Order: sequence, then structure tokens, then C-alpha cells
Amino acid sequence: MARIFLKSVFVVTIAILAYRYFNANIDRDSIQGKRILVTGASQNIGEEVAYQYSELGAKIVVTARREKELKRVVEKCLSLGAKEASYVVADMTDTTVYESVINIAVKKLGGLDILVLNHVISRHGKWEGSKDDLNFMRRSIPVNYVSYVELASAAMPHLGQSQGQLIVVSSQAGRPGIPNIAAYGATKAAVANFFTSLQLEGMMTGHEYPSITICILGAIDTEGARWVQAKQRMQIQGYPVDKTANVIIQGGITRSRYAYAPPYIGWLATAREMMPEIFDRILLYFVF
Ligand SMILES: NC(=O)c1ccc[n+]([C@@H]2O[C@H](COP(=O)([O-])OP(=O)(O)OC[C@H]3O[C@@H](n4cnc5c(N)ncnc54)[C@H](OP(=O)(O)O)[C@@H]3O)[C@@H](O)[C@H]2O)c1
Repeated sequence: MARIFLKSVFVVTIAILAYRYFNANIDRDSIQGKRILVTGASQNIGEEVAYQYSELGAKIVVTARREKELKRVVEKCLSLGAKEASYVVADMTDTTVYESVINIAVKKLGGLDILVLNHVISRHGKWEGSKDDLNFMRRSIPVNYVSYVELASAAMPHLGQSQGQLIVVSSQAGRPGIPNIAAYGATKAAVANFFTSLQLEGMMTGHEYPSITICILGAIDTEGARWVQAKQRMQIQGYPVDKTANVIIQGGITRSRYAYAPPYIGWLATAREMMPEIFDRILLYFVF
């Protein structure tokens, strides 16, 4: 019985790896001229996603709070080959802006083919239930969760019309959870769960479009993540930001339900869910 199980795992693993290998670079030309909105694009992962789409000849709108940074990103997008590039300044703490962000982007672009939800606020530290902890938790829910649902809902008719892609950036911290980022991880879990339900509802009702890709990211080599990792017992090298952006874009192009960066993070999460007692002891002993 154990032999059959191991053989099946082996065959399935090879099949998945082969599928990923042969789909690794398909159809990147399909991004040419696509109308794309990227949120949280004033730095790090979102910024890099905007640049890589630009290199593929997309029309881009980027959004975040800091106008100066958005102007810089837009200029670079144009220099890299974006067909068009512009920005919308928006603070996702303000629960009244979501519909207008989508409307402005649709107006600028003449429609919408791809929406990448990526913006985030995070806070590191053991949960003490302090005022600061609670304040962060209250602020993070609209920014990290409510805005994702509202932006996606406002974009759905446009993405449906264009047979487009909805790409949602989540985290290993939400699957299932890791120490020192409880409130942030909870919002990421909410996002991943919500959009998994939408994927299933789409499958049930035969609505294929927009495709929904949930990106599960592990430790990525950004400034914020480096600062967090420096406090850990085991120094894990973050996955490069450019490769992460590539995984996000590729996940959308292949219309995968999930995309993982680094690629092994999906296997780790699955192993952890199957053997939490053993896995979490190892995690706590070696990493935190
Ligand atoms: N870095 C990692 O190791 C890691 C790991 C797992 C998952 N992820 C996920 O990857 C995504 C990007 O992460 P990152 O490290 O690149 O994030 P980041 O460097 O902290 O950038 C966050 C982006 O969100 C924007 N933002 C923050 N608060 C906002 C608000 N209230 N309204 C509108 N925009 C706001 C920021 O721009 P402004 O300040 O200009 O508004 C910035 O562009 C996130 O979804 C994160 O959860 C990252």
C-alpha cells in the first residue's frame, strides 16, 4: 500500500514538474497591448511587476499613495517599452475609493485585461494585544483584505468582458500561519480563502473568466523582509524580486489557480498542513 502511495506521489510530482517546465515561457507575447492595473506598485514587488509587464509591451496604470514614487515608476515603465503608462494616487485605507480607482484605470486604459492586487501593510513582532497591535489589526483589514474584495468586485465586469486575469498576491504567512506576523498573516489567509471560493464558484457555474490566480509568496528579497529575516535564527536568503514578479506574471498568463515563489513553497505548505506537529517543531527550532 505504502509503495503504491509513494509511486503515485512520484508520478504526480513528475507530471506537475513537466507541466510547469513546458508551460514556463508560453505566450508571453500575449501581454503585448494588454490593459493592466497593478496596485502597490510604488516599490518592490509591485514596481517590478509593472516593469516586467512594460517590457512585454503592456499598457499600464499603477497605483499607491506616494505620487513622487508613482511618477518615477511611470517614467521607467515608458522607458522599458510600455505602450502607455500612468498612475492613480489612492489610499486603500479609505473604503470609499475602490470603485473610483477601477473606473479611473478603465477610463485611462479603455478597458481592463489584467488586475494585479498586490498592495499591503505589514507589521512585525510578537502579538502582545497592545494598543499598537490592535490599531495595526484594525488598519490592516481594510487595506489588506476589504480593498482586495472591493477592487476585484468593481473590476469583475470589465475583466469578464475582456476574458481577463485577476491576480491576487498572498503569502505563506497566511497558509497556515507563522510567528511574529499574526495580524498580517490573518489578512493574507482571508484573501487566499476568499479568492479560492471565487475560483470554485467560477468552476461550478462554468464561468471561466476572469481566471483567478492566487500567488503564495515565501520570503522574498525585499528590504522589509530582509529586516524581518535578520531577526530569525536561520538566515534564509529571500527569493529574488525579479524572479518573483516573473512567477506572478507567468501565473496569470498560464491561468494557474496558484503560483508559488519560491517554487518549493507550495510543497512546504502542503507538508506542514499534513504534519503540523512535526513540521512546526522543526520550524520553531531551526528558523524562529
Ligand atoms: N516581501 C516579502 O517577503 C513578501 C512575502 C510574502 C508575500 N508578500 C506579498 O507581496 C506583496 C508585495 O509585497 P512587498 O514586500 O513588495 O510590499 P512593500 O514593499 O511593503 O510595498 C507595499 C506597496 O503597497 C503600497 N501601499 C501600502 N499601504 C497602502 C495604502 N494604504 N494604500 C495604497 N497603497 C498602499 C505601498 O505604496 P505607498 O507606500 O506609496 O502607498 C507599496 O507600493 C504584498 O501583497 C505582500 O503581502 C511579500
